[in-house]
Amino acid sequence: MNLPAKYPPISPKTPFFLHGGDYNPDQWPEDVWAEDMRLMKLAGCNAMSVGIFSWATLEPVEGRFEFGWLDQIMDLLAKNGAFAVLATPSGARPAWMSQKYPQVLRVDAGRVRQLHGKRHNHCFSSPIYREKVRIINTKLAERYKDHPALIVWHVSNEYGGDCHCPLCQEAFRGWLRRRYENDIEKLNHAWWTGFWSHRFNDFEQVESPSPIGEDLVHGHNLDWKRFVTDQTVDFFRGEIATLKAITPRVPVTTNLMGVYPGLNYWKFGAVMDVVSWDHYPTYHDRPDTWLLAVSSSFLHDLNRSLKGGQPFMQMEMAPSMTNWMPIAKLKRPGVLMTEAMQAIAHGADTIQYFQWRKSRGSSEKFHGAVVDHCGHEHNRVFGEVAELGAVLKKLDAVIGTTTRPSVAVVYDWENRWALEDAKGPRTEKKDYNSTVINHYRPFWMNGVPVDVLSEDGDFERYKLVIAPMMYMVRKGVGERLEKFVREGGIFVTTYWSGIVDESDLCFLGGFPGPLRKMLGIWAEEIDALYEDERVKVVAAEGNDAGLSGTYEARTLVDVVHAEGAKVLATFGSEFYAGRPAVTVNTYGKGKAYYIASRNDERFHADLLGGLMRQMGLRRTIEGPLPEGVTAQTRSDGKREFVFLLNFKRDAAKVNLGAARFKDVLTGAAVGGEIELAGNGSRVIERA
Ligand code: GAL
Repeated sequence: MNLPAKYPPISPKTPFFLHGGDYNPDQWPEDVWAEDMRLMKLAGCNAMSVGIFSWATLEPVEGRFEFGWLDQIMDLLAKNGAFAVLATPSGARPAWMSQKYPQVLRVDAGRVRQLHGKRHNHCFSSPIYREKVRIINTKLAERYKDHPALIVWHVSNEYGGDCHCPLCQEAFRGWLRRRYENDIEKLNHAWWTGFWSHRFNDFEQVESPSPIGEDLVHGHNLDWKRFVTDQTVDFFRGEIATLKAITPRVPVTTNLMGVYPGLNYWKFGAVMDVVSWDHYPTYHDRPDTWLLAVSSSFLHDLNRSLKGGQPFMQMEMAPSMTNWMPIAKLKRPGVLMTEAMQAIAHGADTIQYFQWRKSRGSSEKFHGAVVDHCGHEHNRVFGEVAELGAVLKKLDAVIGTTTRPSVAVVYDWENRWALEDAKGPRTEKKDYNSTVINHYRPFWMNGVPVDVLSEDGDFERYKLVIAPMMYMVRKGVGERLEKFVREGGIFVTTYWSGIVDESDLCFLGGFPGPLRKMLGIWAEEIDALYEDERVKVVAAEGNDAGLSGTYEARTLVDVVHAEGAKVLATFGSEFYAGRPAVTVNTYGKGKAYYIASRNDERFHADLLGGLMRQMGLRRTIEGPLPEGVTAQTRSDGKREFVFLLNFKRDAAKVNLGAARFKDVLTGAAVGGEIELAGNGSRVIERA
């Protein structure tokens, strides 16, 4: 596959950074609108997401549409040189609809139909809901199709949740019929229903998982989650089809939520024109919050990877405090800028907030906003937003650039679902997310860019693929990984890998199942440790993998036999003392590493740092980076922009080595050792 060096801007109308946020003028009297426009200009804002939760204003009673206010807002935006990220309102619905058509209301897993209220809680199967959404989306698209302000469709808002109503049960059974080719025996096998007499004679006997019914059949739970993703994507496609029929050239997106557990976002990338996501990190004031910045970077990389490296939209972030957090800290001075630069460093072509103007009432009235209840621009947060707005205007050249890493980390939702559902080897602390991020962290600390892949991803594009806790190995994945390694790739995986197939049925004949031959090991047993227990991992003398001394394993430990693999470390305690703790197997032209336990950070830094050195992986800047600092890169193949980001409160010194750079904001030449302010960032261009 030929990947572009540079992508076009999100809309041809906006070859520059979009800066703005969720804007709810329909909740405010008209005399505030002109003031909004004045403030937007002062803040350097040029893109407002409008209409996200406006259905009750747009269609106050069934079939009566009121677009007058939106006409005025669209015109005002255009007149003031700004653009609309125009929403479809399906994220929340008017009360008349729930009253007249109760089928739009969700039924929870306990089979209780919900009352009207809140948002993001409609039935995705309901033909009436789909039809009502189609009608309002058609009206919106027809009305604004030629409007100069329209640049992007913001479809719905943060799709999520599931519904267990009779319509969804029917749809689930249809989905199962298709998956199992109408053969109930295929389902019985996949779900291993002989267990506890759970056999079905007919698809009609199957229901969605429920706490008052069945929720212990892993294949069943997994298929339900798959169905929910497919049903949500189908609903999303329905919204898109309506819009595309009228505005074929206006890009569509829907805002995602990081590693939201309920949906397999890998299935969303292909459906939308541009990925967007909402990011609410908490790194505001604790000395170790730089660790959270590593997770944020990972999430940005994931979002960039959903469309193979195409820049994404930072659709929401908080200008200051995020009111739903248990302790809603103020964002410390300077953090907003660094957080925005971090998003951009990893591929964001927009910086948008929740929310433009702080709500006067209801549950988000204390959520950070660009315009506070004071109503003017003379406050700290507005000042920081305006400063950021001025900086974004100097970053046009970054738009459309990307990064093409040699390293990929596998993050796979289906694997996560299966692994988290497993009873054993521990019910708690399976920690898939943090385990993946712990394997990502050494790359972040060394400024080596990383892509994120699902198991179905294109391994061949990379030199190094790391798949922590690859519990589920779907059909064909083992073969594709073998090919990758045979042809020279380096593969790293860990304990609790190669355990089940795509139906959550255990591989027979020895773990790690389809990965066994390539890894040259047999994982005989897995031990679970108490919280306070540690097992020693002792590096083999003279190993060439960068391991030295003794490390500490915790939580999960595999008892492994080397079957041709070279042993790089052994366990130093417990009844499995002396057994392999880390192995490497030469397979074809490549190598496959197995890490048999959950280890400490020094271990990850040594092993993965050693690999980075051995493989000569390019670091964004030559010199070592101080703790809490990362360097990320974007390029169009000719120009390279380097983002230096400091997530510690103290200033840090960074050595740029022999390379010469130009500060993108000031134009000044930069080289040698430079200082990064606490919570500070720099954008420099390689000379
Ligand atoms: C997001 C949501 C926004 C707003 C925000 C508050 O999840 O999309 O509408 O509620 O959270 O942080």
